[in-house]
Amino acid sequence: TKRILALFPAEDLPEGEIRAETLPNGDVIAVYNVDGNFFATQDQCSHGEASLSEEGELCGKFVECSWHFGTFDVTTGEPGLMPCEIPLKTYAVFVADGKVSIEY
Ligand code: FES
Repeated sequence: TKRILALFPAEDLPEGEIRAETLPNGDVIAVYNVDGNFFATQDQCSHGEASLSEEGELCGKFVECSWHFGTFDVTTGEPGLMPCEIPLKTYAVFVADGKVSIEY
């Protein structure tokens, strides 16, 4: 079964920024604001141990991991530039009552 969790007010995450959240099930996720639309992936880079919310840079819909400069499309989780090859887990995100909310 899917659960819904309200995370934070939408205005708390400006365009182009990333923040980490820990879900009640222990998953650590990165939430992204891409041109006013919110997306979420697992926080840990699938190439190594880097935290994408801390070590990543959001450029349009791509997050670049500063450890080895690989990228992912945060809207799909698909890897972009090498050395990233394994897709990131993604989560459905929506805004309800002004709050960024997630299905997990
Ligand atoms: Fe992210 Fe290597 S740990 S690209």
